[in-house]
Amino acid sequence: MRSIIPFNDGWLFHPAEVGTDTPDTAFAPVTLPHTTRLLPHHNFDVDEYAFVSTYRKRFTLPEPGAGRRVYLDFDGAMIASTVSINGHTFDEFRGGYVPFSFDITDYLNEDGENLLTVRLDSTERKDIPPFGYVVDYLAFGGIYRDVSLRYVEPYHIDNLFVITQNVLTPSAQVHIAIRFNNQTDDFQQFPMQVRLIDPDGNIVVTQNVIQALAAQRIYTTVVTLEVEEPRLWSLNNPELYRIVVDLHPQNEENNPVVDTLTDQFGFREARFDKDGSFYLNGERLKLIGLNRHQTYPYIGAAAPARLQAKDADIIKDELGCNIVRTSHYPQSPHFLNRCDEIGLLVFEEIPGWQFIGDDDWKKLALRDVRAMIERDRNHPSIVLWGVRINESWDDEAFYDDTNTLARELDPTRQTGGVRNFLGSQFIEDVYTYNDFSNTVLDPEHTPHLVTEFNGHMYPTKVWDQEERLIEHALRHARIQDKQLGMPNVAGAIGWCAFDYNTHKELGSGDRICYHGVSDIFRLPKFAAYFYSSQSDPAQRIVLEAATYWTMGDRSEGGNDPLVVFSNCDEIAVYIGDGLHGRYQPDRAQFPNLPHPPFTVTGLGLLMTWGSAFGDLRIVGLLNGEQIIERQYASDGKPAALTLQTDDAELKADGADMTRVVFKIVDRYGNRLPYTQSVVMFELDGPGELIGENPFPLMGGQAALYVKATHTPGVMTVRASTPRLPSAQVEIVVK
Ligand code: GAL
Repeated sequence: MRSIIPFNDGWLFHPAEVGTDTPDTAFAPVTLPHTTRLLPHHNFDVDEYAFVSTYRKRFTLPEPGAGRRVYLDFDGAMIASTVSINGHTFDEFRGGYVPFSFDITDYLNEDGENLLTVRLDSTERKDIPPFGYVVDYLAFGGIYRDVSLRYVEPYHIDNLFVITQNVLTPSAQVHIAIRFNNQTDDFQQFPMQVRLIDPDGNIVVTQNVIQALAAQRIYTTVVTLEVEEPRLWSLNNPELYRIVVDLHPQNEENNPVVDTLTDQFGFREARFDKDGSFYLNGERLKLIGLNRHQTYPYIGAAAPARLQAKDADIIKDELGCNIVRTSHYPQSPHFLNRCDEIGLLVFEEIPGWQFIGDDDWKKLALRDVRAMIERDRNHPSIVLWGVRINESWDDEAFYDDTNTLARELDPTRQTGGVRNFLGSQFIEDVYTYNDFSNTVLDPEHTPHLVTEFNGHMYPTKVWDQEERLIEHALRHARIQDKQLGMPNVAGAIGWCAFDYNTHKELGSGDRICYHGVSDIFRLPKFAAYFYSSQSDPAQRIVLEAATYWTMGDRSEGGNDPLVVFSNCDEIAVYIGDGLHGRYQPDRAQFPNLPHPPFTVTGLGLLMTWGSAFGDLRIVGLLNGEQIIERQYASDGKPAALTLQTDDAELKADGADMTRVVFKIVDRYGNRLPYTQSVVMFELDGPGELIGENPFPLMGGQAALYVKATHTPGVMTVRASTPRLPSAQVEIVVK
């Protein structure tokens, strides 16, 4: 029987390279995912987290081996891991963004204690992609993804690749490429059962096959199932099916299963067409998206499943995107699973940034292509493989190889390769282009997908003056509007969703690139409101004014024009008690957006210095009906410190985390960006606060994380700041 045992618990960590003679007491107990060092959200340097460290874990086998092979599976560790078990050392695994495994069976102590160590090199190793030159992001150190122990029979299933076909016709097919590994010295022949499970958990089709397998061989076979009228995976209805493959003991079909492998997938057809458009299930779909880095404040990349899933939710629900690019590397399985579940398309790419190394380096990049595709090709959300090093120079032989390999490993998906200069060689299927021209250039090839824009052309902080925040938002709006009107452009993915930590050579000097439409805590700037306002009103109603509603923050004073992001079809604007006017979406400036911003004018004269200045009230209407109202105080007075948690409940697994957002707001709940204040936190109960405490708040909003321990109970987080009542939230740990 196969067993998968989570192996995140009970590790020891030492922030240096030490030998087995160093006592356990010199280590700190940790649970994975783990970062080599907790940091402030900015103003730190690479050498604070990029060093060689040692992880150690002592364990007795959680289950008897009983003749099975035992593998140690790492989902990801940054960036080179040398794993030893009971004195046996495996070859160093080089690569921080893809999974790796070791067969540890022959070195295990079946009855007594086992000693596992990982020498983890988290320095910026020039021999490993993405390094060689400076990159615009940080590869935080640590065993930052999950680890598990996998027991399998010496003949077992190694990989499943589910291919769907004719999904738009009444009779579709599912081809399941099943890869086996027979590590025995015997020819094996075994009954195999393949089941297709629908989204409600019902078995739709079962097929029994007798499978033969030569000794010491890895072999792939394909089983085809016929399915009538499958439920399609789409953005609004991301129906997920499941394939289960069971192996039975030789010639004993009714005996217990000896191996089983399962994966989820979806029936959907996704393609970029020569006509320039992207089609999902036969329907043209304009792609509107943002890039995502996998890093977080304080914890580097060591975010547990819940935070990974939350990012996908934010990008789809709060930012209204239909696609995300995993810039610039394969991201967490938890993130991708969530994209499948909620219907968010993904463009996933290999690690790298503006640099191609020597032949060994290129071999690792090819290995990354393989690892990424073999890990992720069943995700219905993924619609494109990025097989070029982001923004690198042309290298025909290398990119012929990456494209050939990608097409061989997954004939169902197209390739892209992100370039930043026109005229670069077009070896891929989709011309994926970073267009920083502040417009959308006419494609020289189709299909053409804009994979970045804006970014460093207009860095914007959440506490910037409102004119800059408005212009930042409008740049995103103009580009998205423009691309939506270009039939030969498939879509545009902006740079980027969230502010992110970077090297001193890039960004604003404090180790942050302020390129996000949201800040590093995933909290909105005005540009986030633009994206959000493109959501379908049937999903959520959005109404956000891009203003701090002051008399004199803008050059020359006043608030003219006032930009409002909303998916309502009309707004009524009130100042004080009087109706200022009713407005329609600004289709003149934004003819192609589903929900153009509103441009409210006539506020210049009204708002001259010293004139009466009342609160702003905006009522949103849809089909003549009032459905939302927002108010903004004119007195600029801090009215409350608010504290909000994303989750009311955590798991007591020592790793689970949630975000706790704090804001200083006016009496209507709007953040007050210029209220610089120190916020202090206290936590009672079983948990740990992660972040800066006290926090010197700038921009009116920020966040900390709380992390569960292994103890259940109730955590209370309390925040206080001078001159305002304190706030608190409770989180139950189960
Ligand atoms: C691009 C690059 C991104 C990011 C961005 C900033 O050139 O691909 O990773 O650095 O610029 O605008």
